[in-house]
Amino acid sequence: MASKVFAPAKINLALHVTGRRDDGYHLLDTLVSFAPVGDWLTISDAETLSLTVEGPEAAGVPTDMTNLAMKAAALLAGRRGARMVLDKRLPAASGIGGGSADAAAALRGMAAPALDADALLRAHADGILGLGADVPMCLASKPLRVRGIGEGLEPVALPDIPAVLVNPRRPVSTPAVFKAMTRRENTALPEVLPALPDADALIAFLRGTRNDLEAPARAVEPVISAVLDALSAQAGCGLSRMSGSGATCFGLFTSEDDARAASRAIAKANPAWWVASGVLGDQSGAAMPRLCES
Ligand code: C5P
Repeated sequence: MASKVFAPAKINLALHVTGRRDDGYHLLDTLVSFAPVGDWLTISDAETLSLTVEGPEAAGVPTDMTNLAMKAAALLAGRRGARMVLDKRLPAASGIGGGSADAAAALRGMAAPALDADALLRAHADGILGLGADVPMCLASKPLRVRGIGEGLEPVALPDIPAVLVNPRRPVSTPAVFKAMTRRENTALPEVLPALPDADALIAFLRGTRNDLEAPARAVEPVISAVLDALSAQAGCGLSRMSGSGATCFGLFTSEDDARAASRAIAKANPAWWVASGVLGDQSGAAMPRLCES
């Protein structure tokens, strides 16, 4: 028997960079939600720890200890081994947390069914944060406000919202984008978020927020501007923005039909791009390990 775990894409709906710590890490204030689009990690018992990567986005993904899923599994494996097979569907180095989502899936799969995400995080806080700033939020896989460098997680009530995700298939280096920033001390999100009962309210609120990494990322990888233009030109697109340090951008819609039509149109006009659509929201249930035949 094996267990299969979903690793949903993380979308930074807003990402404000509010300062920099002495160790060089940037302080963030970000609002994240999760997409029903992601990688799948299948874990079965084995003598040793191993990883195989397959699927449409497998090219170039390491299978050794430099892969975050291996590091995460090693953290919980102890003397136990595990055979992991990663079905890689999210483009790598693309601002939607792919590697971190895989690490979170490995942690869930290795711990299951003993611990839920909160308990896992409490029990292994330092080790999990040591895997990368995005791993704790991916472990939660539900709408959050995250402050600090990724450790200050606060669940927030956000409405489900239809979205289109577009990546131009150019990997972007996160450190290079942070380095290209010209202003590192920017305003935080409002201390108290307003009530956001539906997609219209969420879009209206987000229009007053930013992704402070968008301008430096566009300077590092100019094709990001073309991706944002393609999204904002679609009928019904209420907001287009980059996620994380890029290059994946998202468009938000109030109608699922409009989002699907936009996704089809962008994919048709740009066959080399990675395009997906789905309703962003709480994916914590979808991300729970489920038993499967191996
Ligand atoms: O945490 P993660 O490994 O994803 O970060 C990659 C790099 O991005 C860090 O080494 C750092 O240079 C930069 N970074 C940062 N501030 C953050 C997160 C990442 O400067 N909050």
